[in-house]
Order: sequence, then C-alpha cells, then structure tokens
Amino acid sequence: MSSLFNKRILLGVTGGIAAYKSAELIRRLQDAGAQVRVVMTPAAQEFITPLTLQALSGHPVHADLLDPAAEAAMGHIELARWADLVLVAPASADVIARLTQGQGDDLLTTICLATAAPIALAPAMNQGMWRNQATQDNIATLAGRGVHLFGPAEGSQACGDVGPGRMLEVQDLVAAAAGLFDTGALAGKTVVITAGPTREAIDPVRYLSNHSSGKMGYALAQAALEAGAKVILISGPVALPAPERVTLIPVTSAQEMYDAALACASSADVFIAAAAVADYRPASVAEHKLKKTAGIDTLTLTLVKNPDIVASVAALPERPCVVGFAAESELLLAHARAKREHKRLDAIVANDISTEGIGFNSDDNAVIFISDAGEEYLAQRSKSQLARDLIGLIAQHLMTTTA
Ligand code: C5P
Repeated sequence: MSSLFNKRILLGVTGGIAAYKSAELIRRLQDAGAQVRVVMTPAAQEFITPLTLQALSGHPVHADLLDPAAEAAMGHIELARWADLVLVAPASADVIARLTQGQGDDLLTTICLATAAPIALAPAMNQGMWRNQATQDNIATLAGRGVHLFGPAEGSQACGDVGPGRMLEVQDLVAAAAGLFDTGALAGKTVVITAGPTREAIDPVRYLSNHSSGKMGYALAQAALEAGAKVILISGPVALPAPERVTLIPVTSAQEMYDAALACASSADVFIAAAAVADYRPASVAEHKLKKTAGIDTLTLTLVKNPDIVASVAALPERPCVVGFAAESELLLAHARAKREHKRLDAIVANDISTEGIGFNSDDNAVIFISDAGEEYLAQRSKSQLARDLIGLIAQHLMTTTA
C-alpha cells in the first residue's frame, strides 16, 4: 500500500508558470491514495483557474483568509489541522521569502504558520531568482527550521534561460511526498493499542482511577496509522478525540478493557499496552451510593486483583508482537527488565515517572525501549515524535522476527 494512502495533502499553489503542473500533481497524488485540498495565492489564480483545481480535487479551492463564508466552511486553522502534509508546488521566490519572515499575509502562509504538519516546498522560478543570495539565504533558513525542499531541477526554463529553478516533475514530487511519511513500515498490519486509565466502580457514583491522560496511547495510534496500519484503540475514559481513522473501542473498567483486548488480540500483528490499568478493583460494587455512618470515621474497601491484560495477550497461543510499558519511580531498568521477562513481552517501554515534565499527563516523554535487540534510550521529546520513533522500532522488531 502506498505511504500516501489516506494521507491528507494540502496543496499550496503560488504564482508561477509551473502552476499548470499543479493540476496533474493533484491527479497523481490522488492516484497514490491521498486526499487533496487546494489553497491558491492570488497570483496563482493568474496562471491557472481555481475552477480547474476545484474540479480535479473535488473540493472547493481555498483562496481567501478574510472571507467569512470560506472561514465558516473550513477555516485556516481547520485546514492547518486537517493536513498531514502541506506541499507548496510551485513555491515562488515570493512565498519562500514570506515564509522565511513568518508572515501570515494570505491564507497559505497563515496555514503554514498554524500547522503542525510537515511543510514541503517545490521551488519554481527563474534561475537568476533561484541563485540570488536572498533566495538562497531564505532557503537555508527554512531548511534549518525543518521545512522540506523538493528540488528544484535544472534545465531549460519557460523564460528561455537554462539553469536551476525548474519545478521537479510531477512523478518526482509524488515520490518525494511519499518518502516523507514512514515508508509504510506497518502497511497491511493490524495494531491494537490500549490507552488511558481504567475506572473501578465503588458504588454508582464513585470509582478508583489514576491520572493517565491517554496521550501516549493516542499518539501511538496516530503514528501507527501514519505507518499504514489498521488501528484498534481500546481506550479508558480520556478527554482526547480519537484519531479519525482508528476503530475506537471505549471501555471503562479493567475487566471491560481485558474483554475487548482478548477479543481482538489474536488477529492482530502488534499489541501495545499503553493503558494505565488499575491493578485492583473493589471486590463488590455497592448497589446504592455509600452513606456516611454517624460515629464511624473509617471505611474499609476490599480490593481484588484485576486480570493482567498484556500478560494474558502474551500468553495466547496465537500471540501478536506484544509491547508493554513500565512506568517506574525507582530502579527503572531493573524493574522494566524483570517485567518484560515475567509478562513474556517482546519489548517494554520503560519510563521514569519521578522526573518532572515527562510521563504521566504531560506532553513529553523520555523512555528506554528494551527488546531482544538491546536497550535503546530515546531522550525527551514530544509524545507524538516519541510515538513515531517507537512505531519505527516496533516495525523493525516485527521485520526481524517474522523475516
Ligand atoms: O505491572 P505494571 O502495571 O507495572 O505493568 C505495566 C504494563 O502492563 C503496561 O503495559 C500496562 O498497560 C500493562 N497492564 C495490563 N493489565 C494490567 C496491568 C498492567 O495490561 N492489569
């Protein structure tokens, strides 16, 4: 399956003669399985009509930043969030300069400022403009910020010059866009992920739970999707929206999470247990709300052990590749290694929850990935970046064990 399958590509078209190739680019991106939405600058509309690109993309072309009707339909922030990749092709010297300055003076540059998606530019301009030191400095600045550059190619130009500045050919742009995403490392695979906390009922209104936000599990679900996998996310109660293309199985208690996990684990290729499952639950759930009793200052709850979900999956006769998490506040490596062995996991992700700013309920994490291949230290980074790195390691593990 192409690594552009289901990818959302926001195609920015700016003012240059190469804009005529953008029409073909839309088609070829769609052929590769991508969804394409188009944003045009005013200058681009002098070279090719919005109607052409609308007809090809199958969606209205976005052009105005300050048009209330357009903003109401799909505004600049929604477009910025929608995109898996912003590809500006052709990228004129002007848009390159404006992006370097961080300007938000039209819809496209505003989206580029707002998006968390990668941005790729396909420069297209006269060779003199490309060679100009100002353009070269801008390109170097943008590359330093992580903006991807596709091309330009060398050759004869529409203006009659010969040199660097031609936009890459459409098929090369499609290949370069596909190459930005994980190489389909999990294409065709099914990944089941548990995420978030569980709630163990005490009575109809109270429960035992923990501070898990679900962020790590949800980031893993997104990264697995991006790697081309079919993803089933078994989630305890969290305040996060599920990635759009996952199959979400919402659960509340550890027992419900266990039932859901065991129902789908045998047919999965990978099982990742990122949930913070309550180890114990009240032995019985009171039918009515517990009342305070006058004169009695203590209340004793009897707890019973919950089933260990990840260990049960690892014990299945037809087991997937099983990855667990070990959140530890002391003796991190020793505890994580022991847990991996005891639960018979292929790999365990160890994280030190005594360090502030990482782990539980935060946006960042730093972990050690422990598998047969050794122990890999992944220093502090965002949970979404970490998730992409972990999915890469898990895919490598799968490849070496099923090869
Ligand atoms: O034993 P501990 O709770 O520290 O193990 C953590 C790992 O085991 C995590 O991957 C967690 O999702 C999983 N786990 C589970 N079922 C439980 C308890 C933990 O799957 N009942």
